[in-house]
Amino acid sequence: MGFRDALKFFATCVTGLEDIAAAEVSRLLGVEAIVDVSKVFFETEPEGCALLNYSAKSVNKVYLLVARGEARSLAEIEGVAASPNLVELIDRGQSFAVRAERHGRHDFTSLDIAAVVGEAIIESYRNATGVRLRVDLNNPDVEFLAILRDSDFILGLNTTGLSLHHRYYRVRHHRAGLSPTVAHSMLMIAGWQPSESLLDPFCGSGTIPIEAAIHALNIHPGLRMKNLAMTRLRIFSHEILSGLRERLMGEEEAPRPLDIAGMDASPKALSDAETNLERAGLKGCVNLSAGDALVLEKFIKKPYSKIVCNPPFGVRMGLRDPYSFYTKAFMSMRRALPGASLTLIASKPVVVTRALEDVGWTVTGDRRIMLGSIAGHIITAEQ
Ligand SMILES: C[S@@+](CC[C@H](N)C(=O)[O-])C[C@H]1O[C@@H](n2cnc3c(N)ncnc32)[C@H](O)[C@@H]1O
Repeated sequence: MGFRDALKFFATCVTGLEDIAAAEVSRLLGVEAIVDVSKVFFETEPEGCALLNYSAKSVNKVYLLVARGEARSLAEIEGVAASPNLVELIDRGQSFAVRAERHGRHDFTSLDIAAVVGEAIIESYRNATGVRLRVDLNNPDVEFLAILRDSDFILGLNTTGLSLHHRYYRVRHHRAGLSPTVAHSMLMIAGWQPSESLLDPFCGSGTIPIEAAIHALNIHPGLRMKNLAMTRLRIFSHEILSGLRERLMGEEEAPRPLDIAGMDASPKALSDAETNLERAGLKGCVNLSAGDALVLEKFIKKPYSKIVCNPPFGVRMGLRDPYSFYTKAFMSMRRALPGASLTLIASKPVVVTRALEDVGWTVTGDRRIMLGSIAGHIITAEQ
């Protein structure tokens, strides 16, 4: 297998948002992107992979697909993992680590998988070069991901490093902060276009409005990521990466006031949102203000066509009576913004849906996503 021309890659994202990530991969690269085993598979050249790392907003990590095959035992896993020619990927002096995920019933653990894959990589590299690669589990130069889903074994090489949801602007964190990749995906689910007005009445540290501004101004968040793993991988030449960075920088639009607003009742949250907005280089692009979302009409002085928000979650934010809180919020949205559509994320879909319908909203969608081990629901509604 050669590692320079049309290569196979897969991107990871929040479970439940694979179709959004696949659409973004297709849009950015002009290739077919297929969702399989909760990942997004596609073919491109190294430059296409680099473009995703710099530009993607719904993707967490991008992996080069190094090997894939049927494996039912550790011996079979070792066989698949030993097959690729890694000499084109890893320099002799580089250290590596293997992380492993296992889904399904097996009589071995993910640690066992990581161990046999590590051995297979060391052996095949030594056979090809005479050099024994160094393992560094804490700070490796090169990181592999081994995934076994039933008998489907996949070996990927991490081209991203730390997940892309760690955005450059997030210096202030909200205790119930939303992942920026989820925020971006919610904007896509809402069908929000940069030409439309947008309000987040529960903006917290500003994730949704900042992601909206980043999208509107064609900002490439990964360009500001430090230490992307691809910069240490041989298949990404310095010329390709620096040429691409220059081109993408040139495509970004200069900051300007946008029709995007964030509101929150907490002065601390608003000050954090201001700090994050400033760090994003977008001061003045988004209108942030204090207000009570339960009486929105007192604070909103102009119409907004889309509301996208992350209201307080019952468990995390200590809401005593979520139904009453949501009912008041959804009623006030209708009073202040007749005709606006609503996209929100919540942990109690039944309560939210009942509250929406009881005050005259029509629920048009409910998608379950996994936020770590917690399920969240992205609910869309029209008036
Ligand atoms: C889940 S957090 C939003 C987090 C945000 N998406 C982020 O990433 O930082 C919910 C926010 O709603 C705000 N909030 C609670 N009650 C409110 C109300 N009546 N009006 C406006 N904001 C309110 C809280 O201060 C909190 O910042």
